Amino acid sequence: MPDYYIGLMSGTSMDAIDAALIDCNDNQIKLVAHTSLTLSDDLRQQINTLCQGCDNELQKMQQLDIELGKQFANCANQLLKNTQLTPADITAIGSHGQTLRHYPDDTIHNSLQIADPNTIAERTGITTVADFRRRDMAAGGQGAPLTPAFHEQLFRHPQKNRVILNLGGIANVTILPADSNQPVIGFDTGPANTLMDYWSQRQQNTLYDDKGRWAASGHVDAAFLQQLLSDDFFEQPAPKSTGTDYFSPSWFSQQLDNFPFLASEDVQATLCECSAQSIANAIKKAAPNCTEVLVCGGGARNDFLLSRLQALLSNMTVTSTDNEAAPAEWIEAMAFAWLAKQCLNHQPGNISSVTGATHPVILGGIYPAGCQSD
Ligand SMILES: Nc1ncnc2c1ncn2[C@@H]1O[C@H](COP(=O)(O)OP(=O)(O)O)[C@@H](O)[C@H]1O
Ligand SMILES: [Mg+2]
Repeated sequence: MPDYYIGLMSGTSMDAIDAALIDCNDNQIKLVAHTSLTLSDDLRQQINTLCQGCDNELQKMQQLDIELGKQFANCANQLLKNTQLTPADITAIGSHGQTLRHYPDDTIHNSLQIADPNTIAERTGITTVADFRRRDMAAGGQGAPLTPAFHEQLFRHPQKNRVILNLGGIANVTILPADSNQPVIGFDTGPANTLMDYWSQRQQNTLYDDKGRWAASGHVDAAFLQQLLSDDFFEQPAPKSTGTDYFSPSWFSQQLDNFPFLASEDVQATLCECSAQSIANAIKKAAPNCTEVLVCGGGARNDFLLSRLQALLSNMTVTSTDNEAAPAEWIEAMAFAWLAKQCLNHQPGNISSVTGATHPVILGGIYPAGCQSD
């Protein structure tokens, strides 16, 4: 008997809602089907506005919460249609939602994801688990990254020291030592695609730099690179997490103010190198014995970034997860499907050595599908 879960994810890139259907039968995790729903320019604009702060925020947030709830539900329903499954076939949806703010370590210590789970449960007829981050934060953790427990399930290898590298808007690593006595470590390393996406959108009117071709056409400016890499976040010890509210367009504009005469392709080349170097430095420092870096997230399709990572990590192999478990772009949505299962089974979803929480906790709030009499 299959045991199906759907994961719904929209990350810091704000590119699309990703939906992954997994089968967890027999303690295996298999990707069965997937789909994604591109966010309209209008929705992306609304999310950006709320991420950066604006007038009348609460009301705008409430409207967007419902609208995104509907879109997330549409995406899950599309997956059901494609697979000819019914809501009764699916044990639960795990919905990450859309992050508006993430304050991991200052006095606010809170993380806000929207896409109303009541709307998702109502419109899909499927029990929905959401709000995954805040229980970890209530236990003193950063609420991020949350994918390492899933990465451990899927990728830990008894002979190979592996690092799983997720290239979303922000990059995060999960360090999986072959020695099962060694703890799993994971943290955000800083920007992956977010600044490159922003610059491509502004200068080229494209959502992202396809395969990194534009970056590859420019030259890295050493002084600009040095300035970008001098940000304190890169040297901070783990546990650490960050978001696009920190590595934001205004952070970037401030950095660029000192370099007004750089050609736009050289800016892109330097942003790509900043991602590559900050990630490679973090891996070398935290996992010097790693032999295999498996890359997931949409950034795995940035060939130029991957080639730079491979050059900087010359004693490791850098490849996408495509041939290992599932195509790179679906791993994160799969993770939130699995986290829903963990929640319903009263199993922890965080790894306290990753998030800094005082103990393992069950992540997420449950929004049931309906009454038994329905
Ligand atoms: N063909 C491609 N070439 C370069 N970058 C790509 C390509 N496809 C996707 N990406 C990058 O991946 C990002 C989306 O990755 P994703 O894993 O969905 O991130 P997030 O979790 O932040 O939404 C895009 O914004 C883009 O930067
Ligand atoms: Mg995405």
